[in-house]
Amino acid sequence: GLKIVTIGGGSSYTPELIEGYILRKDELPIKEIVLVDIEDGKEKLEIVGAMAKRMVEAAGLDWTVTLTLDRKTALKDADFVTTQFRVGLLNARVKDERIPLSHGILGQETNGAGGIFKAFRTIPVILDIIEDMKVQCPDAWLVNFTNPAGMVTEAAIKHGGWEKTVGLCNVPIGHVKTASEKLELPKEDLFFKFAGINHFHWHKVWDKSGKERTDDLIDLIYGPNQNEDDNHLKNIHSALFHYEQIQDLHMLPCGYHRYYYIEDEMLEHSIEEFENGETRAQVVKETEARLFELYKDPELDHKPEELSQRGGTHYSDAACEIIASIQNDKHTEMVVSTKNNGTITDLPYDCAVEVSGVVTAHGFEPYNWGEFPNAGARGIIQNMKGMEETVIRAAIEGNYGAALQAFTVNPLIPGGTIAKTVLDEMLYAHKEYLPQF
Ligand code: NAD
Ligand code: G6P
Ligand code: MN
Repeated sequence: GLKIVTIGGGSSYTPELIEGYILRKDELPIKEIVLVDIEDGKEKLEIVGAMAKRMVEAAGLDWTVTLTLDRKTALKDADFVTTQFRVGLLNARVKDERIPLSHGILGQETNGAGGIFKAFRTIPVILDIIEDMKVQCPDAWLVNFTNPAGMVTEAAIKHGGWEKTVGLCNVPIGHVKTASEKLELPKEDLFFKFAGINHFHWHKVWDKSGKERTDDLIDLIYGPNQNEDDNHLKNIHSALFHYEQIQDLHMLPCGYHRYYYIEDEMLEHSIEEFENGETRAQVVKETEARLFELYKDPELDHKPEELSQRGGTHYSDAACEIIASIQNDKHTEMVVSTKNNGTITDLPYDCAVEVSGVVTAHGFEPYNWGEFPNAGARGIIQNMKGMEETVIRAAIEGNYGAALQAFTVNPLIPGGTIAKTVLDEMLYAHKEYLPQF
């Protein structure tokens, strides 16, 4: 039977994962699910862990659900290791958002200065996990959800040497759903090709007659009827894109492109949230508290509707499906953060990219993308990737100069005095979780 270990098991998303496994019970010969957390997350782990046990029992399954704070022992003989941890918990995210905003620049979980600091805190931990895996489960797959998922995945593959890593995100799932609704065609009758990096990818769509439908979708989604309700991401403000610019791309943007393509509006909205004490982390803290109150109910044995208030809702559709597809060589078509290997010729071979492909027993096989014909797309993604590589190097070396380099190259952070001021303030605020600096 399979042993699946989840690091950050105390996450409020755990019922989402358990539900995904239960839905795939015929494909997944699970023996044991181990939820791992740390001392600071012990209470959350116990509450959501008890909930996970009730869910499994209610489904009539004999899977063992184990809760532990001992990561190394937990990893022994694991087949799959999934990661969904947040170093510093939501309090650290509050700082990632609020400190940059207090200086008038964007503060966001995976973008700008906040995303960089989440990477600084997380990358040393993922590399430690890999060291444990080398000893305890050298053949296991690492399924990473931990944000910033693209940089964490790149660090795992390139610096941790863990080739059997797949990085996942729920954003592409929402774009597939939107395309299917707008074209009024089942998603099975459409072919999708995504390419870019995590939270910064574009996609193209074809129908089953072979006709490309990307430009039609651009008209339907970003044309004169552009609609705030089409933003499927609960965590991102629904500002409208500029139609002409998207037309010029001939590719559909992802929700996170708003931070770059309509930066000023997004910043203005974020500053408002900041002033009202309503940045996303602050809102999520309340949602999380409500969720844990629900999870405490000994009668509750299924995922509550309330979880759909979180941005990562339906993420098990990615996490559980990739496990099922590797396990059963299903060739499921998915969008995965993986080693580039020339898939996108505009980016380095050894970096992580987020692209479409199929999931086989030997892992993810990406579809070739080639180059971005639009130099505007090529320019910005090369800039972003150079930034990510610099962030990863700074995170590993604890190198102040590299950190400042990454800040300076990030499109959402102005260079010069402000970059240094925000960097210094954040290094100080997060110092407990940044032993490398
Ligand atoms: P959370 O704040 O609930 O943290 C999850 C758990 O991680 C907590 O119980 C915490 O105690 C634990 N943790 C912290 N440091 C740890 C460590 N060193 N080892 C083991 N566990 C540790 O976070 P959340 O809101 O549930 O999100 C979890 C993670 O998943 C975040 O990194 C988030 O950004 C990411 N996420 C990614 C996607 C995606 O699209 N890839 C979707 C949703 C969430
Ligand atoms: C989206 C992104 C995730 C991110 C989440 C935030 O789903 O894909 O990477 O973690 O939103 O949601 P939250 O509810 O934590 O703001
Ligand atoms: Mn994501």
